[in-house]
Amino acid sequence: MRMVDIIEKKKAGGKLSKEEISFFVKGLVDGSIPDYQASSFLMSVVFRSMDDEETSYLTEAMMNSGDVIDLSSIPGIKLDKHSTGGVGDKTSLSLMPLVASFGLKVAKMSGRGLGHTGGTLDKMESIPGTNVYLSEDDFKRQVRDIGIAIVGQTAEIDPADKKLYALRDVTGTVESIPLIASSIMSKKLASGSDAILLDVKYGRGAFMKDVPSARHLAKTMIAIGRRLGRAVRAIVSGMEEPLGRAVGNSLEVIEAVETLKGRGPSDFVELVETAGGILLTQGKVAHDEEEGKLLIRKAIADGSGFKKLEQLIASEGGDISYLENTDKFQKAKFAYEIKATEDGFVHGIDSLSIGHAAMLLGAGRSRAEDRIDFAAGIYLMKKAGDQVAKGDVLAVAYSDKSDVQPALEEIGGAYCVEKEKPSLPPLIREYIRQ
Ligand code: URA
Repeated sequence: MRMVDIIEKKKAGGKLSKEEISFFVKGLVDGSIPDYQASSFLMSVVFRSMDDEETSYLTEAMMNSGDVIDLSSIPGIKLDKHSTGGVGDKTSLSLMPLVASFGLKVAKMSGRGLGHTGGTLDKMESIPGTNVYLSEDDFKRQVRDIGIAIVGQTAEIDPADKKLYALRDVTGTVESIPLIASSIMSKKLASGSDAILLDVKYGRGAFMKDVPSARHLAKTMIAIGRRLGRAVRAIVSGMEEPLGRAVGNSLEVIEAVETLKGRGPSDFVELVETAGGILLTQGKVAHDEEEGKLLIRKAIADGSGFKKLEQLIASEGGDISYLENTDKFQKAKFAYEIKATEDGFVHGIDSLSIGHAAMLLGAGRSRAEDRIDFAAGIYLMKKAGDQVAKGDVLAVAYSDKSDVQPALEEIGGAYCVEKEKPSLPPLIREYIRQ
């Protein structure tokens, strides 16, 4: 088999066989296929796409390029959830402890933030002492013993994705549904769970800019799950404005804790309840999503979700006194208020700009090796739909830096304020089971 023939075939719009796709992934990982051929192949996929069968072959070959975690020795249904990323998305920190509080097993490998999006691992590490790097044995032991582990992905998981993602990033080949779907699903499948809920975001701050493309991605990933024997469901939810009010690592942990104590912002609570209702159905704790939602509300009200978060953090070495008293989190040196310049209603808050401004304030990374300031970030005092008067505080920016004018201007510019009351779409646009 020759890589050039595989590239030619895809370039002409042909359908690739399992053997051809495996040949590409093996050669990519062992170095026998050079980056220029891999890049050319990726570009041919961007233009010619792949059908569900080819995408599943690609996903399977990527998954098998490294370690595949076997959780079958742990009794019960193992659940995972994945968000395609956004701004202010601290869902895993509230949702997964709630789900685990019902005795379901949560085995989750998460990522770090890059660019305008945040990552669960960075948020967890803002709690002093937390170590998210567990060996595979310790990961499994923790899932068995306390029912939940959220850890960093080991270097041995899915090396094909690491190589492909780095190439895609610099060759203009990120935006392709089969490439995104196989990248996400190969990692999810390698981490071993039986059932997965995907939260596919759409909007300015997301990979998918509109509902139809988010739906297409969701359906592609569900089809991969079906072909590879995992139960996958998805929701399509809005990232037109940041989720909740807090953006930035320790600010988001505080919001996740507040949510588990029954004091979360309404959009975030809605997402946690809806996703939780689905996960409890997937885990067969609830008969249907509505019952699941009620159970999640109960686990918030009786504190069992919060207790499970404490167990999770304690088990990974974190100091849970910070969760009990969130005033202990170190504060940023400076707090800057961003004020409304006119009367009206907030029609939207551009997530991309807020994520970018948070990065400038020190909350995120522009390069993988950048250091994060855990206390930096933005608190949104006003959200879409709120009425504002000229001079009202729209948002507060926190940073140790004193030269943050560009970030403050970006936050002000992210707010769209108009005279008339807006009619806003629901946060959760679709629930897709198959
Ligand atoms: N997230 C991933 O893991 N991969 C992609 O290609 C896009 C988003």
